[in-house]
Amino acid sequence: MKTGTVFTPNSLRSASLAFVLLSVLAGCQHLYSAKTKDPSGAAADNQADSGPRILDPLYNAGHVDPGVALDKSTSPFYPSRARTSAEGGRLSIDLFDPPEKCGTCHTEIYAQWKGSMHSNAWHDPIYRALMKLAGKATNGLTDNLCIGCHTPVGLTTGEATPTGEKMSEISNHGVHCEVCHNISAASGIGNTAFVLTPRKYGRPLKFGPFKDARSPYHDTEYSELHTTSALCGICHNVTHPFNRMPIERTYDEWKDSPYAAEGIGCQECHMTPGPGRAAIGGPMRERIFTHYFVGGNTLLPALFGSEKHAKLATEMLQRAAKMDVLSVRNVRPGGLATVDIRVSNIGAGHKLPTGFPEGREMWIDFSVLDDNGKVLYRLGRIDSEGHLDPGTHVFKVTLGDDAGNKIDLELWKATQILFDTRILPRGYADVSFDFIVPEGAEGMLSIKADLCYHSFPQPLVNYLLGSDAPKVPTIIMTSLSKREKIGKR
Ligand code: HEC
Ligand code: HEC
Ligand code: HEC
Ligand code: HEC
Ligand code: HEC
Repeated sequence: MKTGTVFTPNSLRSASLAFVLLSVLAGCQHLYSAKTKDPSGAAADNQADSGPRILDPLYNAGHVDPGVALDKSTSPFYPSRARTSAEGGRLSIDLFDPPEKCGTCHTEIYAQWKGSMHSNAWHDPIYRALMKLAGKATNGLTDNLCIGCHTPVGLTTGEATPTGEKMSEISNHGVHCEVCHNISAASGIGNTAFVLTPRKYGRPLKFGPFKDARSPYHDTEYSELHTTSALCGICHNVTHPFNRMPIERTYDEWKDSPYAAEGIGCQECHMTPGPGRAAIGGPMRERIFTHYFVGGNTLLPALFGSEKHAKLATEMLQRAAKMDVLSVRNVRPGGLATVDIRVSNIGAGHKLPTGFPEGREMWIDFSVLDDNGKVLYRLGRIDSEGHLDPGTHVFKVTLGDDAGNKIDLELWKATQILFDTRILPRGYADVSFDFIVPEGAEGMLSIKADLCYHSFPQPLVNYLLGSDAPKVPTIIMTSLSKREKIGKR
């Protein structure tokens, strides 16, 4: 399988050549300016003289911040990197309101959030089952880590336990209003590097995108962080806390993409803005942001009763990719024919697919039919138990342990990436299908391909949830069909 971006390997090579040239030139300039240095110090303005400048440590953190657990003495919730405004870290549950309370004034925002994967993040049964396995395998060392992203209020109040017993409704809500709107700062990117500040001056305080918001219920404070992808990066970069192994890298994938360069952040696609009112009684505004937060997961929202989120997620997936036939060769009786297909990531601002590595998979279901509708060849079928045909073209990342064995679910053992066939943002992958055209075939052949996605392979869900396992849907993201005339022998 070949992969590429809009840069061809050639243009990349010439780009790096150009870069080398520029660096050499910059080096000359450096020598030159050093020689002619102005004793008054004015040359300090000359960038070639200063070391690398970090413009904004927050933005840069995706690349320099390895995401590992920090020192125990500075991490009240070790190995999570979460911090709070409270002495010693622990917050009281009384400092937080349930999302329903916010929903009394922020009615639309509440209705959009309810049913999202953020609202399901803690009671998600697939997550809970894996967290239990991880805790067992590591003597509970990973518990705080998982809890920190899947219920930050549960972590910082100390309410959340792996079994989920004796928790208040507020902590059960996963990633809710009070989580994001109490984040006062980020101490890095990934592994819950947030600081939670629920109150200041003894009153509730909400951080948000407006400089002029006034609420009868809470204080407000403008937060630039909330208008950038870095807010999302706090949780959407997951790292093995002890060996630096990158587990999920949605933020970094975006940061390295043309979207980041163009200033199109997570919010533009996942919180699509439009005009409206942020609260009952609030002013009409040109840009407020929706709170559906849909991605690729259609299974869980439907399971928890939100067909709306499941439908929006399906549409999101259907906007993400396109397929084109590049060439069809050697279609003649008895011949070995080849079809080349290009799959392009046209809609996702990160790799396609991104996120949870052991689950997210995309593949091509390819078939060739004769004029009577008889299937002559097929590769990429998913059977009733959820197994894919051996040899299917799959787009996913596969993690491995020390010995190079593929890891299915035991992420804590991951030390390396074995394969990564996911497609870069605005990039593409070319795949070929070969099949034998039957002797004596004539007329036309129909070539069909479906690009399919599921958020979890059925066998893994069965393993985690046993007889309670729900059926994982396969979503068809895009399809193509082409008729091809069978040539002469
Ligand atoms: C995952 C984080 C997250 C969660 C959960 C979340 N918000 Fe937001 N919210 C944001 C971000 C980010 C913005 C600003 C987006 C921007 O300006 O780029 C925002 C904006 C807002 C605004 C300003 C108006 C607007 O829509 O732009 C209000 C009010 C608000 N949120 C209320 C809520 C309420 C109420 C809930 C719970 C029902 C909630 N939020 C849940 C991240 C979150
Ligand atoms: C009594 C009504 C009411 C309640 C309850 C309420 N808010 Fe607000 N909130 C408002 C109003 C009004 C605004 C200002 C809207 C505007 O200016 O467009 C606001 C603004 C906000 C903003 C934007 C702040 C900024 O500076 O950008 C956020 C975030 C927010 N609220 C979150 C919450 C959260 C979280 C809760 C629940 C803990 C909550 N609100 C409960 C009325 C309320
Ligand atoms: C240009 C639009 C765009 C931008 C920018 C973007 N996304 Fe996405 N995102 C998508 C689309 C389309 C999908 C559905 C396809 C897929 O699953 O990758 C998606 C899927 C996802 C998923 C679910 C992936 C899965 O399959 O489980 C997550 C999580 C996500 N995005 C988070 C983010 C975060 C965090 C950022 C910013 C760092 C971001 N996205 C930026 C368009 C975008
Ligand atoms: C406090 C941590 C946290 C923050 C901050 C956060 N997320 Fe998430 N997000 C999660 C978790 C945890 C899940 C997955 C829950 C699950 O699958 O059980 C998730 C799921 C999602 C999904 C759905 C993925 C799917 O498979 O369908 C999208 C989309 C998403 N987040 C986008 C965002 C965006 C955009 C932001 C920033 C505005 C953001 N998130 C901020 C923790 C967070
Ligand atoms: C830094 C934040 C973070 C940490 C720490 C974290 N997760 Fe997650 N988790 C996420 C996000 C974000 C997603 C959603 C990504 C996507 O949609 O593909 C997710 C998704 C998942 C899913 C997929 C759920 C589904 O329904 O498809 C499972 C399972 C999961 N996490 C388990 C764990 C376990 C177990 C741990 C601890 C060992 C853990 N997570 C630690 C952020 C985190």
